[in-house]
Amino acid sequence: MQDAIATLPKVELHLHIEGTLEPELMFALAERNGVELPYASVEDVRAAYQFHDLQSFLDIYYAGARVLLTEQDFYDLTRAYLERCQADHVRHTEIFFDPQTHTERGVAFATVIDGIRRALADGERELGITSRMILCFLRHLSADAAMETLETALPWREHIHAVGLDSAELGNPPERFQAVFDRARAEGFPAVAHAGEEGPPEYIWQALDGLRVARIDHGVQAEQDPALMERLARDRIPLTVCPLSNIKLCVFDRLEDHNLKRLMDAGLCVTINSDDPAYFGGYVGENFRATAQALQLGPDDLERLARNAVDAAFLEPEAQQRLHGEIDAWRARLAD
Ligand code: HPA
Ligand code: ZN
Repeated sequence: MQDAIATLPKVELHLHIEGTLEPELMFALAERNGVELPYASVEDVRAAYQFHDLQSFLDIYYAGARVLLTEQDFYDLTRAYLERCQADHVRHTEIFFDPQTHTERGVAFATVIDGIRRALADGERELGITSRMILCFLRHLSADAAMETLETALPWREHIHAVGLDSAELGNPPERFQAVFDRARAEGFPAVAHAGEEGPPEYIWQALDGLRVARIDHGVQAEQDPALMERLARDRIPLTVCPLSNIKLCVFDRLEDHNLKRLMDAGLCVTINSDDPAYFGGYVGENFRATAQALQLGPDDLERLARNAVDAAFLEPEAQQRLHGEIDAWRARLAD
């Protein structure tokens, strides 16, 4: 089973590039840029990664991002993630980036996006991993700030596939961002949104009916609302579930208690993703391994999860067909 999981062709749809900042790179960039860190060592950083909810994580995550200053920093960050992808047989990845985390500190939008996209272009050429970029608005900031961010991004529109919504969920419902998502849709961007990670099913309804999202990021709280479960199944709205993240942020006590398998069994289009792997103890391969073990997933479940992610990706039908073909070959090898 371990080998089957390792070689399963994967698509990752919920990954914050700032959340791939490993402590080693954090220290190297702090030194390169002359940034003071509130940690004495890499071990010290890892020891600080004890979270009790989303906000306790976000405080540390935004502090860590302060070492990212130059285009080369964003390039190095993204390149390191893509090398992890290669090790995990990730064939396609859709990456969130949070421009406001950087522009608020005086780092230009161009610095952020140019570093990430240069690494993604090199990654496709050298590693054969395709990718998309999803611009996320920080929901703890104002709707006006989100609109300003969208306007700043428009000159780079050819590099941005979709828009998303992340950061502190409770008290920041999707409806607060209606105007910016309307504008993004008018500009031709598909949308996704974090909803139902810590927040109630009502936030998922708002993301679907108000923001008109194509996917829900997390969405695990949908289980509390049978009508919502029916809607998600009927419209085949993908959920980008992040099991190890949910444990680290205490959404579930133990991985054995996670509802991923129940969501699958209810007919929802569930996918497995890593969210912020440098902070949550594992990249997508480790999320698959740990979840498969805890919930006793078999080859059919793994295949379903992988195919769901292909179907949920913002890819042309030919590229989706190619990836399904890779999964066919994986399944055939398993049968031998
Ligand atoms: N939830 C909300 N915002 C985030 C997350 C998350 O899991 N990770 C990075 N920003
Ligand atoms: Zn997330």
